[in-house]
Amino acid sequence: MSKRWQAGRPVADPLVAVTRSKLPGRALEQLRKEARLRVWPHSERPDHAEIVALVQEADALVCQSSDRIDADLIAATSRLGIVSTVSVGFDHIDLAALDELGILATNTPGVLAESTADLTWALILAVARRLVEADHIVHDHAWVGDGYDLVPGIDVNGGTLGIIGFGSVGQAVARRAVGFGMQVLHHSRSGRPSELSTPVPLDELLRAADIVSLNVALNAETRGLIGERELRSMKPTAILVNTSRGAVIDQPALARALAGGWIYGAGLDVTAVEPVPANDPLLGLRNCVILPHVGSATVATRSRMAELAARNVIDALAGRLPAHVLNARPPD
Ligand code: DGY
Repeated sequence: MSKRWQAGRPVADPLVAVTRSKLPGRALEQLRKEARLRVWPHSERPDHAEIVALVQEADALVCQSSDRIDADLIAATSRLGIVSTVSVGFDHIDLAALDELGILATNTPGVLAESTADLTWALILAVARRLVEADHIVHDHAWVGDGYDLVPGIDVNGGTLGIIGFGSVGQAVARRAVGFGMQVLHHSRSGRPSELSTPVPLDELLRAADIVSLNVALNAETRGLIGERELRSMKPTAILVNTSRGAVIDQPALARALAGGWIYGAGLDVTAVEPVPANDPLLGLRNCVILPHVGSATVATRSRMAELAARNVIDALAGRLPAHVLNARPPD
């Protein structure tokens, strides 16, 4: 079967489907110079069936990490040659289905690690020093007296930070720990030593760390990595922070751990289901700070990501192999 994308074969009069009505930075402008655009017109994000309808005759798709790009969607397309996600994570894309038709997949690495590491630290401090509770006391006019007894937290400085997953985000989180005078441990697939941190087995990290930060990609190995056994092995004073993907944690087990005092608190930028359903037990727990998946959400970083995703599409449509291809063996 001929491959949908072939090196050296530019696409004539291409059509690019974009699953959001807006992209930050100059991404849409850059794409518009090279192609016709079919941009999702509503501010609410499209559901799966709506993305299928949007992409059908398109040559390229620009999508987000919350769009499921599965075999059914791919089967409904007739011309699609590239899926360009505006994210570094790509667990939402069925790469095998793309490979079968010779469709390229690309992502946006190298531009969001620092912003995501900043947010990881924001969560660590928010949980340790109970910032959300403290803010509510002030906004709810409940600050009376001198506030001396309000929201005592725990110290971050001088403790041990354990980082699970030591790619660019994990390393950026480690660099920031220097200023807090922390000992840093990490656990990663490669187990490579680092000047920033000491590699240790997962069980050792969980037992020793005061703060555990999850910075892994979601895949078959990491799905459900932190469950009841792992949570019970952590210190009762420990904090768990997740800025990777929600499914890395067994979420019902985490709710039990937080309610039962197995650990001190959790800071989550990601959850198993996003947005978090209204009846999720985590929402009733004050020792759990939850953010709406905003790790990379600064104007500058999101603009860089969108422009990189646009660049990947422009290169692919011109018959050039984009810089950030995810397929293990790109079509040629
Ligand atoms: C990513 O880039 O994977 C972030 O989680 C945003 O989706």
